[in-house]
Parts: sequence; C-alpha cells; structure tokens
Amino acid sequence: MTAIDVADRTRSDLAHLLHPLYHPSGHQAPKIWVKGRGAIVIDIEGHEYIDGLSGLWNVNVGHGRRELAAAAAEQMETLAYCSSYTGSSNLPAIELAERLSELMYPSINTFFFTSGGAESTETSFKTARYYWKLAGKPDKVKFISRMRGYHGVTMAAMSATGLPMYWPMFEPRVPGIVHIESPYPYRFVNRTPEVSDGVAAANLLEDAILREGPETVAAFIAEPVQGAGGVIPPQDDYFARIREICDRYEVLLIADEVITGFGRTGRWFALEHYGIEPDIVQFAKGITSGYVPLGGIGVSDRIREAIHSAPPDKRYMHAYTYSGHPTCCAVALRNLQIIEEEGLVARGAALGERLLQGLHTLYTLDGVGDVRGKGMMAAVELVADKATKQAYPVEANVGARVYQEMMQRGLYTRVLGDMILLAPPLVTTEEQVDRIVAIIGESVQAVVRGQGSGVRG
Ligand SMILES: Cc1ncc(COP(=O)(O)O)c(C=O)c1O
Repeated sequence: MTAIDVADRTRSDLAHLLHPLYHPSGHQAPKIWVKGRGAIVIDIEGHEYIDGLSGLWNVNVGHGRRELAAAAAEQMETLAYCSSYTGSSNLPAIELAERLSELMYPSINTFFFTSGGAESTETSFKTARYYWKLAGKPDKVKFISRMRGYHGVTMAAMSATGLPMYWPMFEPRVPGIVHIESPYPYRFVNRTPEVSDGVAAANLLEDAILREGPETVAAFIAEPVQGAGGVIPPQDDYFARIREICDRYEVLLIADEVITGFGRTGRWFALEHYGIEPDIVQFAKGITSGYVPLGGIGVSDRIREAIHSAPPDKRYMHAYTYSGHPTCCAVALRNLQIIEEEGLVARGAALGERLLQGLHTLYTLDGVGDVRGKGMMAAVELVADKATKQAYPVEANVGARVYQEMMQRGLYTRVLGDMILLAPPLVTTEEQVDRIVAIIGESVQAVVRGQGSGVRG
C-alpha cells in the first residue's frame, strides 16, 4: 500500500472543505482519522487515542462493528431506497418503529424518522404547533428552552440552543423562542429558602410561561442531561416539577434525548431516572451508533390520536426525503440488537459509576472545581478558585492546554471552555476507563502546576 502523504491531504482539506464550527486558524493541522476499534480511534499517522466522546456522543457500541456493516450491505443489496411519504413504507422502518415503541416510555408508541438531531428539533417544534392547531389553540406557537441547552443549528434549532456563541453571525433568530436558566447545580443562583434548588430551577419555567402567556406557549424543550453545554445532570426533583408545570399550563414537554438515548446514561432513555414521561421524545446519534445518519421523534398516544383524527385538508405536511431510510433503519435495528444482547445499558450504568468514582478522586487536585455525570456522560470543571468557583481568565487558555496534554497522553475528547466533557463508548474496557481518569489527572496537574499564582488567584 502506498503511504499517504499527510501534508498533501491536509492541503487538500484546507482547499476544499468547510467544517462545522470552522475557522482556518483552528484547522492548520487537523487530525485526520482513518480507523477505529472498540473505544480506540487511530489517526493518519498511526497514533492511537481513547475516543473519550464516542465520536460526537454517538458511537455507543464502539468502532469497527462488522455486524452493522453487514446489516447496511444486506439492505443496500435488497432495496436501496424508497419513499416513506404517505401511502408508501418499508419493512426496516416498520420494524424499527415497532421496536422503539417497546423500548421507549409507555405512552410513546409512534415515530417519525429524520436524518439527525437538528431535523428532529424542527420536527418536534412543527409537530407541537400542528398538535395545538388541531386542538383548536392556534395561538400556542412559542417555545421555551434553556441556556446551556444544545438542540442543533438549523434556524429554529439554533434559536432554541442556549449557547450564545452559536448565534451572532446568523441573526436574527427565529422569533417566539425564549430561554430560561439551566438548573446547573454547581452554579445555581436562583435559590429560595422555601423550596429545593430543583424546584426553584423548574419554577423558572412557570415564570416564563406566565410572562409569555400560557395561551401562546406550545412546548418546552430540554435535554434530560444537558450535553454539549457542559454535561449537566439536573437536581433529582427538577423534572417532576417541570412535568407538573407543563401539565398545568398545557405546554408540551419535549425531551431532547439525542445524546441521552440508547443507554448513554445507564437507562434506555434518561427521563426514566426522574420517573416522568415526555409528550415528544427526539433522538438521533446512538440509535445507529453513528454508523449511518438517522434521527427522529416519538410522540405520545394523545398526539398520535390527534394526527390520526385530522381532516385530510389539515394533514401533517412535514417531510424529508430520507425519512425512514431503509438502510439507516436496518442498521439501527442491528445496533439495538447489539445493545440488548451485550447488555450495554447495564454496562453503561456500571462503567459510568466507575468513571464518576474515578473522577471524584481528582477533587484533591488544584483546579478541579466540579465533577459530575450520569452513566457514561461526565464532566470535570476546572476553576481558578475552588472556594469562590471563580473561572480561570480566558487568556490563560486552561481548557485548550489541558486538551493538548490529554492528546499527548492518548485521550481524545472535547473541552468547552475549562470543562472536560466525556462520553466514552459503552464498550470501553474497565482499564480504559481508569486510563481516562489517570490521563485527566496528569493533564490537569501539568497545566495547573504551570499556571503560577498570578493566574490561579
Ligand atoms: C441534545 C442534542 N440535540 C440535537 C443535536 C443536533 O444534532 P445534529 O448535529 O445531528 O443536527 C445535538 C448534537 O450534538 C444534541 O446533542
């Protein structure tokens, strides 16, 4: 085999590709990935890394699964594509919807497929508006989401995303989408003596609904554990109160389980931790472990009944060419089978415990302010002052430097500011989990020790 000319491939990348979140200054020496096995990814120069974020939170069953390649090949040979528009369907899509109805919350039994997370957000929003129009409440059109939430970056999804760095160069945002504060237990400020922090955080939703007018609010969207915004599990009583508020004001609850679905948090779906059911669930990523693009939404029986009872002139005029793509659905089915047969949901719970316990040992280190997680999602938040929780100055570049140290030691994951985010595959070995913890400890020490008192104070 001829050797690949890395410099030439890099030049060509720079000449011809635009990447997500692109700036050329961050792309002069891109990692070019060529291979993966289990929890390991290998770059073009043969260096091996632990895939600390499962790609982008999606490769739940790990890399290199021949079963998934075989499922795709078999379906492609059988039927390349067919429309899923009304009056037309296909066997893998039917079987996948049937399977999801068994795995998901009891009241969620009906599914619409998309190609990814953002399309799922758009689909949830349109379905919520559609539902309220059918219900004779056409003014219920607004959406409430949370700061630090991430729901994708198509126009409405970007507008719901509560990470302001995604907004300015694409303004104006879609009107009628407002944000409330994240429950963020480590930095929660809206504390009141009368109620728990979880209830106080959820009550911010009630305030927003009353401010906007309940008759104008269609839905509230939330990730059960905020992911890209910093891996933030809410207080344990947060979602029960959210459910009460949504019921009281007739606001649909959309659970964005694009990251948290399919075993990531140690349950099939993450609101199971909190004992409530949503009205709409959106999913993507882990449904195929990222091998092919697939997403979708599940709707409650109540919403399904409304859609089924609509007159023909008010039909559900929402559509994607690749809705219910047979190959993607076939791969999803095989992926779900792997998760079941290998007990990966329970494994995610057990490995997640090990990961979190390991990370907790890092509390003794200078700079480690918070360690949090749920199943195989975790974060370490670095701070200049543990007592006041004061962040490092931006110009100290602490997160970026820790990232470099982690890369040198063989851990590839994502940092957000000074937070180290983790979501390793559910097939990561115990030794690899311990290695992740060790690498983070060494990398934090390497950077924080070099900080000097001027920056740390
Ligand atoms: C919770 C959540 N929702 C939606 C999305 C958007 O998904 P996509 O990038 O497939 O559009 C993401 C992506 O990270 C996500 O984490």
